Amino acid sequence: MKSMDKEKIMLRKWQVGVCGVALVAMVGCRGGEEGDGDGDGDGQGALAAIDFAEMGSRSAPSGKGSFTFGAATAATQIEDQNDRVDWHFWTLPEPEGLGNSEPLGEASRGFSMALEDVELIKEMNLDAYRFSVEWARVEPERGVIDEEALAHYDAFIDALVEAGIRPMITVHHFSNPVWVDDPREEGCAGGPTDEHLCGWDHPEGAEEIIESLADHARLLAERFGDRVDEWCTMNEPVNYLLAGYGVGAFPPGKTLLFAPGGVERFIGAIRNYLRAHVAIYDAIKEGDQVDTTGDGVAASVGLTLSVADWVPARDNMPSEDPVDVEATERVRYVYHELFPESILRGAFDPEVDRSFSEPQPEWEGKLDWLGVQYYFRAGVTGKTALIPLVDAIVCFGGFDLGSCLAPEDPTHFIPEMGYEFYAPGLYAILKEFSEFWPELPLTVSESGLATNVGPRRAEHTVRSLEQIQRAIEEGVDVRGYYHWSLMDNFEWAEGYAPRFGLYHVDFETYERRATEGAVVLGEIAGARQLTVEQRELYGGLGPMTPEEAEE
Ligand code: BGC
Repeated sequence: MKSMDKEKIMLRKWQVGVCGVALVAMVGCRGGEEGDGDGDGDGQGALAAIDFAEMGSRSAPSGKGSFTFGAATAATQIEDQNDRVDWHFWTLPEPEGLGNSEPLGEASRGFSMALEDVELIKEMNLDAYRFSVEWARVEPERGVIDEEALAHYDAFIDALVEAGIRPMITVHHFSNPVWVDDPREEGCAGGPTDEHLCGWDHPEGAEEIIESLADHARLLAERFGDRVDEWCTMNEPVNYLLAGYGVGAFPPGKTLLFAPGGVERFIGAIRNYLRAHVAIYDAIKEGDQVDTTGDGVAASVGLTLSVADWVPARDNMPSEDPVDVEATERVRYVYHELFPESILRGAFDPEVDRSFSEPQPEWEGKLDWLGVQYYFRAGVTGKTALIPLVDAIVCFGGFDLGSCLAPEDPTHFIPEMGYEFYAPGLYAILKEFSEFWPELPLTVSESGLATNVGPRRAEHTVRSLEQIQRAIEEGVDVRGYYHWSLMDNFEWAEGYAPRFGLYHVDFETYERRATEGAVVLGEIAGARQLTVEQRELYGGLGPMTPEEAEE
């Protein structure tokens, strides 16, 4: 990979220089505005290079102090040739499908191009790659295993290992074989069948889903455990359940939070999904007995959480009203604490009020590491209690009932997603987590932004790494950073418009092209250092390059 153009570096140096002298009053400048001179908000003064340690264990005590550079994807978002997944039918135009959002189609052709794509990861000098195995592909019909699909993933894992890239497998990332909860079927009057198990909220159906998913996880662990040590049971459980079962934005499109008796059923779905985590955890531990990394742990099994810097708001202004402050606290609790705390304690909280009144001793401690996935800061108001579970409404994707706040700096706004990137939020959440669970190793398992403008991705990456480093310096056990995403892909309900890729994908030719973000991350990972120059060019808390020109 070519390193960044010399002219570009000169131009950006010039911009930074000019900014320092003349434009500061008009537009502000990168860095420095927090008063300590380096702009990362740590109060530590002048810029210094940041060194990153070598990759180590994801969960063993020996991994504290190690650092992994990686990229992440999910199968449904990138893979072509998949017509057994619920998202296929959810997005396929009517009358064959339901016509919700842009058709999934060929995604990024990440299935047929998988082996070539290993090269992209290698080019960026990354240590690791987090991806998901598509359950719908491995088990297209309930109980029927597609050996060809397994052989595909087998060869892919071989290619990663050969390229010196450590694989991490996510078992469940927002998608299902269509037989789990067929979005085309209204209701489930006849009860679960092998063609339609009725979903996570169905008392009998969920039992069968948990069993099938655990069998699937065991199969993956048995087949791939000799090369894979790092496992993620599920991705962002709260987002998945809210979108699929709470408000109907993802398949199966259930809107339990607004249905009579639905909240109780939704809480049942949360309990079932937690049980699924535990069943997957146990199945992987059983199936993967080979320690490939030599850290004494055959399988490091965690889950990833969607987190955000939630702030109280009212009438589009920051709020100190106790109603908003308490609403924010409830949202934070559900997103940040409910899942890890239930597992670590071995108890469920059906009242969603921290009482953990339901003992679940078999869950206890079944979490080896926790993935932190941070994208935005968002307001929360209790004035309009639209979401019953938390009696609040959050600002997301431009949905605004007074909870949205103007971004601190307009260039930090991510227009494609309708939220604000606020770098120090990542530091604050890592600190918060290390205080809640001092023994739990953390990894930033996703972080990224939707943009069409090269420097913005580099800025996002450098700024996020600066905030991670602040946390590490203060003793937080953060063991890595996985950029979301390796390449542009299908952004669920938002379709193909948001571009999250380190690699730009031309959706006509499927050609991949490195963005400036890929170049910069590649340089950092290669040197295991964030240089002063890179920090000056991209880092700090000041304005980012505006989201305007096409890359
Ligand atoms: C999800 C990804 C998604 C990304 C960007 C995360 O919530 O895990 O699947 O594409 O955010 O929105």
